[in-house]
Amino acid sequence: MDAPTRGAARARDKNSPELTLDEGALDKARSQLDDGAVTPSIGEWSEQIVNLLNDALATELVCILRYKRHHFTARGMASPAIAAEFMVHANEETAHADKIAERIVQLGGEPDFNPATLLERSHADYDTSLGLRDMVRANLIAERVAVEAYRQMIGLIGDKDPTTRRMLETILADEEEHADEMNDLLEKQEGQ
Ligand SMILES: [Fe+2]
Ligand SMILES: [Fe+2]
Repeated sequence: MDAPTRGAARARDKNSPELTLDEGALDKARSQLDDGAVTPSIGEWSEQIVNLLNDALATELVCILRYKRHHFTARGMASPAIAAEFMVHANEETAHADKIAERIVQLGGEPDFNPATLLERSHADYDTSLGLRDMVRANLIAERVAVEAYRQMIGLIGDKDPTTRRMLETILADEEEHADEMNDLLEKQEGQ
């Protein structure tokens, strides 16, 4: 009875060498156990992906702080509903930050929570506006920046790390929703 053949050998039998797996990389995946989820095909990219993710983590943390600042200081006729929305967003940005930090650790990196360098690493800005309309406007700008940053990251990562890309695609969909909601609130505010 023939010994079972691995997938790569079967593919070669069918004359489709372009679809054969890299056996050397599979061997390294079997042996380099200290690397955890980081296997050879992502290995050369993992450090740069971690750097991109750390900038995204800083962005999420600044967004949490901005939304909380706005939640607790919002004043005016429409403020209770809008303040509540700010807290919903703060909580969703927290979930994003947690997912990103978890992925950084899976990739063998260290999530950077250092508050001293948070703002310079963040793509989006903090905001200390006191007026409701200015707060909403600042949040809309920050969300649009987040959307653009995630779109670019997804493009850069491509098929180098499908797990990170999928995570970023989920976060991007949330950020687009956030931007949409801030846009609606701004239109309502400006209509008043
Ligand atoms: Fe977010
Ligand atoms: Fe957001």
